[in-house]
Amino acid sequence: MNIREEYIKFFVDNGHKQIPSSPLVPENDSTVLFNTAGMQPLIPYLMGEKHPYGKRLCDYQKCVRLTDLDEIGDTTHHTFFEMLGNWSLGDYFKNESIEYSFDFLTKVLKIPVNKLAVTVFEGDDKIPRDEVSAKRWLDLGIPKERIAYLGKDDNFWIAGDSGPCGGDTEIFYFRSDEEAPTNFDPDDDRWVEIWNNVFMEFYQDEKGNITELSSKNVDTGMGLERIITVIENVNDNYKSSVWKDVIDLISDIAKLPYEGNEKEMRIIADHIRTATFIIADPAGVKPSNTDRGYILRRLIRRAIRYAKKINIDINGDFALKISELIIKKYSEYYPELNNKDVIFDVLSSEQQKFSRTLEKGLREFDKLIKDESYVNKDIAFKLYDTYGFPIELTIEEASLRGMEVDTKGFEEKFKEHQEKSRTASQGMFKGGLLGHSEIETKYHTATHLLNAALKKVLGPETYQMGSNITTERLRFDFPCDHKLTDLEKKEVEDLVNKWIEDDYPVTKEEMSKEEAVKSGAECRFIEKYPDIVTVYSIGDFSSELCGGPHVTHTGELGHFKIKKEESSSAGVRRIKAILE
Ligand code: SER
Repeated sequence: MNIREEYIKFFVDNGHKQIPSSPLVPENDSTVLFNTAGMQPLIPYLMGEKHPYGKRLCDYQKCVRLTDLDEIGDTTHHTFFEMLGNWSLGDYFKNESIEYSFDFLTKVLKIPVNKLAVTVFEGDDKIPRDEVSAKRWLDLGIPKERIAYLGKDDNFWIAGDSGPCGGDTEIFYFRSDEEAPTNFDPDDDRWVEIWNNVFMEFYQDEKGNITELSSKNVDTGMGLERIITVIENVNDNYKSSVWKDVIDLISDIAKLPYEGNEKEMRIIADHIRTATFIIADPAGVKPSNTDRGYILRRLIRRAIRYAKKINIDINGDFALKISELIIKKYSEYYPELNNKDVIFDVLSSEQQKFSRTLEKGLREFDKLIKDESYVNKDIAFKLYDTYGFPIELTIEEASLRGMEVDTKGFEEKFKEHQEKSRTASQGMFKGGLLGHSEIETKYHTATHLLNAALKKVLGPETYQMGSNITTERLRFDFPCDHKLTDLEKKEVEDLVNKWIEDDYPVTKEEMSKEEAVKSGAECRFIEKYPDIVTVYSIGDFSSELCGGPHVTHTGELGHFKIKKEESSSAGVRRIKAILE
């Protein structure tokens, strides 16, 4: 059964419009490197903007999550995955959403009801317990012993710490050959979560205040890899039809069985698939040492290192062969993969570069150990840090030369280094604004000035709801109940231009999140930032938590002009402005 197609068909038959998968690199949000959930491209619509396809939507969305690369290699984690999603934008709500999910699982996928259990939101001091969902599940035939009420940590969903949000109900499948127990215990890991239905009826601001959204929405997400593994009744995602042929190919190339080499083969399969999708994305990402390019480089190089570990000829065409199979499997659903020449070019040139680095690393290795009786922690760490040698590679090369490695010392050094770089790399994943052009940098600073000017003219309660910057202009969304008058627009422009003329320094300070909040800086999306954050301040009128980059003095900006002021959605206005 083709679950992706069945899913889309089911929701289209039930009045939903299929929307295309958005690119991996977000089009309207420069604060994240890649889409990490199906709902991410839909945030403006969940906030009330009218969607051109209507109020009932469904899709499969490509996503990349890189929070913990070290988990890749187990049976369930992937850096790239697909999310099946359906949405109601102010159309149906809890009852219908639950019924759709129940029907799809039990009638289309034919999962026996006895294998299912659900959690619902138990409520808190602000939001009541979700009896509506519980009753609907009960009416549909889920016994009350299989309905668990859980709190905010488990059954409340928000993308970050401010934005559209709401309680959710999660559906679990009993993945085991044993009989499913009568009572559902969410902590029993034989119960795996397969679907999350979020009832987005609230908006949470940065201070944690919850207000009702203009419409009650539904946002659901189901991981495609996971549901396929469940339906095919295998206990390792890489044994499901998503991966089996890819693993067989790697096993063929390496002339080794999957058993005993699982970790290496999973990493190679996962990373080449993600790299193939990142290269094919319309943003045209190339391997480099900053933000997305850096991620791409790491993925390709890591795949090559693990290929070397299982004796694949890393100067050969193994990566292209695997990528070719990925392209063949997915191009029907993601036509951008037909750009095979570019994908192959990027993969093979990075492969060549890395082989040269590896060779250099090996020569350095021989120099470093010349007068040593064993490979000490500093050498092992230098090989890791400068030449990208994982410790396993160093151990192998050392043993070829009859030497031992101080792995314990290396681990300690590695941990120290990890702590230090965690903040930096989180900043890179989430702040993600490195590599911007000079003009985009100017628009970043102009955005802060505009935010501050709007607060002065319209009142302190307005704020930045969304922003987008290109080399041509800035765009800024903010809550406001009326069309700005000509006078208001002029006041905003004049104020920004006065601040530019006064040539204020833009100061940058690093501090903990707590300090940032205490300092009164505007802290939107604070959860997306690492523990140590950067606050940019200008004069006494602007202070915002921000990944940057910014100019050093406002005088660099030139002349600020509002080109357009229009409605973005109910209660939200949008300004487009330029610097000339
Ligand atoms: N937003 C929810 C999730 O990512 C449901 O789509 O799980």
